[in-house]
Amino acid sequence: MDMQKLLAGIEAAARGAGRIMLEADDVRSVVTEKEGHGNFVTAYDKRVQAYLFAELARVLPEAKFIGEEDGADAFTDDDRRGFAFCVDPIDGTTNFLTGYRPSVTSIALLHDGKPLLGVVYNPYADMMFSAVRGGGAALNGAPIRSSEEPLARSVVSFGTAPYYPELAQRTFAVCADYLPRCIDLRRSGTAAWDLCCCAMGATGLYYELELQLWDYAAAGLIAEEAGCRVTGLGGSPLPWDGPSSVICASAGVAREDYFPRVSLSPPDACGGAASP
Ligand code: IPD
Repeated sequence: MDMQKLLAGIEAAARGAGRIMLEADDVRSVVTEKEGHGNFVTAYDKRVQAYLFAELARVLPEAKFIGEEDGADAFTDDDRRGFAFCVDPIDGTTNFLTGYRPSVTSIALLHDGKPLLGVVYNPYADMMFSAVRGGGAALNGAPIRSSEEPLARSVVSFGTAPYYPELAQRTFAVCADYLPRCIDLRRSGTAAWDLCCCAMGATGLYYELELQLWDYAAAGLIAEEAGCRVTGLGGSPLPWDGPSSVICASAGVAREDYFPRVSLSPPDACGGAASP
């Protein structure tokens, strides 16, 4: 299989998705609510997903397809065999809806349940992140590496797991733990973007107590390939087939600074109980 050709095809699809996002108008008039607190979907999420489905089917016809707007939040046994695309058509839907930026398109290609290729595109800044397993990560075609700075000289970003209000207290307890140990905190509104920011060295660490596969599949691979450590908050490897908590740290963050120094119990809400 020609990986570079495959990557070029997926990037072209991501650019097309970005064009739909850039041309969107009157977004607030085409919004509906999904299950979960503040969980919206716009007609553009569905339009971009349908567009990607058609384009990616041309790129790799034998691949299965799992997308945020399908409703399923985990791979079936069948999805785990062979090739499968996992897509978040618009990661950062709330940003998209409100005009807060950025929002990105996220496309992962998995093979036998493991990420093989990841593409994340921010159309507002024309930034195309990509990675092929074992081949490093790139931004607009140029290699990227995560930061070598220690936690004390890094920015930490986090996600609020907004659709799970029951995780709010633990999320902010972790913020309070990191804040005095880093330069400052950021909350962007898109998990895929947050992971890419860690991959390109803009931040030193990112965490969120609950993400869906389509939020982390592409950008998790990009971060790993840029030299980041990426696991569940309990230290277990990412499952790559369904929801998980996610913590990602750049190469410079010391092992003892990787995990928050607060209790995250119950551990099964936070990605397994393995120790660092
Ligand atoms: C959300 C964003 C957000 C994160 C949520 C995700 P969506 O994805 O990535 O930053 O905090 O956990 O679900 O719903 O905008 O595709």
